[in-house]
Amino acid sequence: MTDRVVAGGRLDEDAQYEAGLRPRLLREYIGQGRVRDNLVVSIAAARGRGEALDHVLLYGPPGLGKTTLAYVIGNEMGVPVRATAGPVIEKAGDLAAMLTNLQPREVLFIDEIHRMSPAIEEILYPAMEDYELDIVIGQGPSARSVTVPRQTFTLIGATTRAGLLSAPLRARFGIVHRLDFYDERDIQEIVRRSAGILGVEIDAAAGLEIARRSRGTPRIANRLLRRVRDYAQVRADGRITVEVAHAALELLEVDDHGFDELDRRLLRTIIEKFSGGPVGINSLAAAIHEEKDAIEDIYEPFLIQAGFLDRTPRGRVATARAYEYLGLRAPEKGSRLW
Ligand SMILES: Nc1ncnc2c1ncn2[C@@H]1O[C@H](COP(=O)(O)OP(=O)(O)OP(=O)(O)O)[C@@H](O)[C@H]1O
Ligand SMILES: [Mg+2]
Repeated sequence: MTDRVVAGGRLDEDAQYEAGLRPRLLREYIGQGRVRDNLVVSIAAARGRGEALDHVLLYGPPGLGKTTLAYVIGNEMGVPVRATAGPVIEKAGDLAAMLTNLQPREVLFIDEIHRMSPAIEEILYPAMEDYELDIVIGQGPSARSVTVPRQTFTLIGATTRAGLLSAPLRARFGIVHRLDFYDERDIQEIVRRSAGILGVEIDAAAGLEIARRSRGTPRIANRLLRRVRDYAQVRADGRITVEVAHAALELLEVDDHGFDELDRRLLRTIIEKFSGGPVGINSLAAAIHEEKDAIEDIYEPFLIQAGFLDRTPRGRVATARAYEYLGLRAPEKGSRLW
């Protein structure tokens, strides 16, 4: 992805702030009502029985709060969260060591779980299913496999690319939640909360102004808030009014819809190269030089939710809003096959 201010992925500048802005408990976690309601029940039930929470898979586009939620779950269960990431686990022994060190009911959080190698995935299967670890002892002809019973634990996996997860791994998660883009009201609330933590005064209308351009993504909202705060401090008296927010966002050249270069390229390609669609995902991927799965998992969900793209059985179609956004004239209704 680019380092544009509206990128959902984590930028270097986010790192120093994210820890402080992260909600720690479910009641501080804004939005995602359905996911939250379900987790409240699952967590209360597991706690009531004194058991580990079932394994949890969280997926969805970058910056929507998967990592945050993993830690929230640990806090609500009252257990520590041991964190690692798919690409970091290089050897089977690395994972075996982590599993061996877990205390009863603790959380093992594996970020980017789709990037785990298949050999390592296989160690997870018995650990997740029966809380057992299959370890090979010795080498060559004398090697033998022993099964070591483990404590119960909760594996929380997070991924932006659910499409890349193997079916057997996915099947071993008892609790699976997809995080969706937040609506403007929720993002506005997140901006208000973050402003409080950062100690900056912000008007409600200014919060909404930032929320509108954050493409439903808390990470982007927090990033825009910090940029607008700088502007308010340097060009005004520190308070974020709607005028200040407007001027700051204008200066940052943040698109009205929070779109970035890739969003525009994708829409423009469908319209110009494929006459507005329908175009199959493979042709589209080839035309914009992006992976098919990345388009499906990361780039198009927001365009679809915002009403600029339709997913039809015959392929992707640019909507009238997309034409309008790019300053083009949409084809007459009825003149097309769709
Ligand atoms: N529900 C929420 N309420 C308030 N703030 C949130 C919420 N979700 C996320 N945030 C904020 O957004 C930031 C990014 O969230 P997080 O790092 O959890 O996203 P992610 O889904 O793990 O992203 P990635 O896919 O890049 O790993 C957090 O630091 C937190 O401040
Ligand atoms: Mg994360």
